[in-house]
Amino acid sequence: MRKKIVAGNWKMNMTSDEGRRLVKSVIMDIKERFSNGLPEDYRVIFAPPFTFLEECSKLVSNTKGVYVAAQNCHSAEKGAFTGEISAVMIKAAGADYVIIGHSERRTIFAENNAFLAQKVNTAIKNNLHPIFCCGESLKEREENIHFNVVETQLQESLFHLPDHQIKSCVIAYEPVWAIGTGLNASPEQAQEMHAFIRNLLMKKYGKAISSDISILYGGSCNGENARVLFGNSDVDGGLIGGASLKAVEFMRIIMSL
Ligand code: PGA
Repeated sequence: MRKKIVAGNWKMNMTSDEGRRLVKSVIMDIKERFSNGLPEDYRVIFAPPFTFLEECSKLVSNTKGVYVAAQNCHSAEKGAFTGEISAVMIKAAGADYVIIGHSERRTIFAENNAFLAQKVNTAIKNNLHPIFCCGESLKEREENIHFNVVETQLQESLFHLPDHQIKSCVIAYEPVWAIGTGLNASPEQAQEMHAFIRNLLMKKYGKAISSDISILYGGSCNGENARVLFGNSDVDGGLIGGASLKAVEFMRIIMSL
């Protein structure tokens, strides 16, 4: 069953104290609104920094439908990679998801499609669901090559997966020009790209699988615009940066699903 998902990507923000307050407040609110945790097809995911991963996993463990993601993982399972964290460690810390290919990793840390494909493989091997990010820059949209860019990102990093593995992935369309800029994609732009992605999935994996995979929108999504963005048939929720750092705002987005 296709899931409706709101995931909060904290990036390099929040101490553990701040994170604890936020997570406790959100899960208390969820429990008040939905007596038995979230409905079956809903997911709320916190993606905190690594230092808070294990505690965050413990905090959400009793709330149905609430999960934890890491923001990144290395492609190797272990070894001499000073400063890196492996999928094995993330799983052991209690997380179930991992964000792979965020535009900040692609641009600031020079991660390319081939490297991201390796990360996807390692994540899946260790029973983590990849939240795979794709999206074009402003220049690429202006040049009208945004569909090609997204298609190449998916072809080179995700579409090597066999049917049973692609099913465990979540895709996040995040136009780079919308991330942290306050300039979100219009609902029409989001739906257009999401439908394009779902069509690529259909051509490669067939109707049943393509209609089962959640495609999230990310980029300046907030409590104001979430409802109209999520109202589109191929937008199954959001990957939220700045607006995930405040409990009330994040909750407003969750209630827009
Ligand atoms: P933003 O970030 O919501 O702050 O634009 C989204 C993201 O980078 O995932």
